[in-house]
Amino acid sequence: MRLIGTKKIKTSVFISGTGSNLKSLIKFSKQKNSPIEISLIISNNPSSKGLGFAKTFKIKKKILNFKNKKLAEKKLLFELKKSEIRLICLAGFMKILSRDFIDNFGGKILNIHPSLLPKFKGLNTHERAIENREKFSGCTVHFVSSKLDSGKIILQKKVRINKNETPKTLSKKILVQEHKLYPKAILKVINL
Ligand code: GRF
Repeated sequence: MRLIGTKKIKTSVFISGTGSNLKSLIKFSKQKNSPIEISLIISNNPSSKGLGFAKTFKIKKKILNFKNKKLAEKKLLFELKKSEIRLICLAGFMKILSRDFIDNFGGKILNIHPSLLPKFKGLNTHERAIENREKFSGCTVHFVSSKLDSGKIILQKKVRINKNETPKTLSKKILVQEHKLYPKAILKVINL
């Protein structure tokens, strides 16, 4: 499905925490000629700091309890349809979406992960990259499949791991790159 058209692509960002990627995507969406419009923020966590951006930028938000995943995904599909969402950007969203959800959505679903996939899927990526004595780490934007951090890679950015690097310093450096990479990946996929 091609996303390109004359109208802006209605996009939903899913978060669970801080939402710094959400913020950078909102900024990107507000740039002149941006192809996307962020019209719905989803969180599974009512205390996600990132939910504050919904208020600041007057974007509709919805909090869903994923304890009952099937029900949550059903409600989610309803909300996405109601808001005519065609692109989902996962940004620090800590739940795995089911095959059914992915198939039923019909639009594109992207995720950002703080490692050079396929290396270091899952959590604690920075700790593991440093422990493994990697020279580089980075970030990846990929399509979402029902297997964790395994969908087709769209774009990656490499970041050097210095001698005295800590997970904290590495995470900070990579986040800066994440904020640049996600918009670039969106521009790439809308032309696919
Ligand atoms: C980012 O490092 C992202 O790659 C990972 O979770 C973190 C979310 O950060 N999936 P933020 O909530 O966007 O600040």
